[in-house]
Amino acid sequence: MFDAMIESANKRRLIIVDGGYLLFNFTRALRLTIYEILVLPDRRGEGIARRMFDEMTSRHPDALEVFAKVPDDYGVNDFYKKMGFARVGTEHSKRGRAMGMWLKTTCR
Ligand SMILES: CC(C)(COP(=O)(O)OP(=O)(O)OC[C@H]1O[C@@H](n2cnc3c(N)ncnc32)[C@H](O)[C@@H]1OP(=O)(O)O)[C@@H](O)C(=O)NCCC(=O)NCCS
Repeated sequence: MFDAMIESANKRRLIIVDGGYLLFNFTRALRLTIYEILVLPDRRGEGIARRMFDEMTSRHPDALEVFAKVPDDYGVNDFYKKMGFARVGTEHSKRGRAMGMWLKTTCR
């Protein structure tokens, strides 16, 4: 886990704020992919995730879309809907865990 974080930090693909972090990637296809977004339980609902999302997109104004693949049992599907993502598919792990694929087109 720390290897990925260190590599992301070096590429400026890690946003850390007081209360949370966002780990992401940006590809040549101009797609931002959220790997992990986490806000401390006692700091949720303050707009921290939205601010980190805005920071990520402002670092990459040429991005065309933002993608995330999130297990349904995380219980955050409504968060992605609220953030303007559309569910574009579902994948299942070998153990049958459903993972939603979420996509948001960014405006330029
Ligand atoms: C999902 C998570 C990152 C949201 O963080 P947050 O800082 O509380 O989110 P924000 O306060 O920035 O909320 C942004 C918007 O989403 C909405 N929202 C946040 N959590 C929500 C939820 N669980 N269900 C529905 N809407 C939600 C807020 O109302 C807000 O909408 P608004 O700006 O229109 O009022 C946080 O709950 C979390 O860390 N969860 C556990 C980790 C996780 O499962 N991460 C996702 C997979 S990597």
